[in-house]
Amino acid sequence: MNKKLTIVDILKMKEAGEKITMLTAYDASFASLLDDAGIDMLLVGDSLGMVLLGYDSTVPVTMNEMIHHSKAVKKGVRRSLLVGDMPFMSYQSSIREAILNAGRFLKEAGCDAVKLEGGLEVCDTVHALVKAGIPVVGHIGLTPQTASQLGGYKLQGKDVESARKLVDAALGLECAGAFSLVLECVPDKVAEAITQSIAIPTIGIGAGPACDGQVLVSHDLVGMFEKFIPSFVKTYVNLAPQIRKAVETYRDEVKSSSFPDADHSFATQLEVKDILEKKQ
Ligand code: KIV
Repeated sequence: MNKKLTIVDILKMKEAGEKITMLTAYDASFASLLDDAGIDMLLVGDSLGMVLLGYDSTVPVTMNEMIHHSKAVKKGVRRSLLVGDMPFMSYQSSIREAILNAGRFLKEAGCDAVKLEGGLEVCDTVHALVKAGIPVVGHIGLTPQTASQLGGYKLQGKDVESARKLVDAALGLECAGAFSLVLECVPDKVAEAITQSIAIPTIGIGAGPACDGQVLVSHDLVGMFEKFIPSFVKTYVNLAPQIRKAVETYRDEVKSSSFPDADHSFATQLEVKDILEKKQ
């Protein structure tokens, strides 16, 4: 269970019909919980911009922010395959820029792979990254970095024509060398068609059960991000009200001087008057 997973292990899971589990992680302690629980792939998602940093979208997230969090996550990982998410404008302006930025995830943060959003338009970039020795996860369907071009955070591939475009994009990304593909917010049958069309694993989020694996934003799974909860999210535990309650109890106990009590203090034989007494 503790052997570090490689890309070959992830590919073998599809071949063997074993579902792949992926979750987002943004810090060492959360990453270590997810890793201990046997999650196969951890994604340092640019969703951290919204979940952790309070931005309204993922667009403002910078490379330095991604590297900072990826380094922290790496410290909590023993077994999971670690994927760093390339933020908006870190791979669009040129292939050279894309290679240099993707390389930082591997060299500085210790990630195993990078993820980037886009279809046929990013295939040349994906090909160049793979040629440079950087494993790539693709991401099609709803691509949050360009959500405004897509008309907002909406279901993609709703008609046959747009669904076929997604299949073409998936085939293009596979051909370019991506080793797996995130499918976000697409109808279940479209995800099934894509999953059947390519040999690399599909990892769905809001894409139904036919995908080879599933990914969720961890803070959604544990009910810690209340600003926006997509309908496809399953909240396995609702921590936000529990955290609020715990913090209110702490506040009340401090205000009423019932915390800290003797059990949470260091007792000593010293007397206050002896400490305060002036030396002669
Ligand atoms: O940034 C992110 O968390 C993602 C996942 C939702 C796939 O891209």
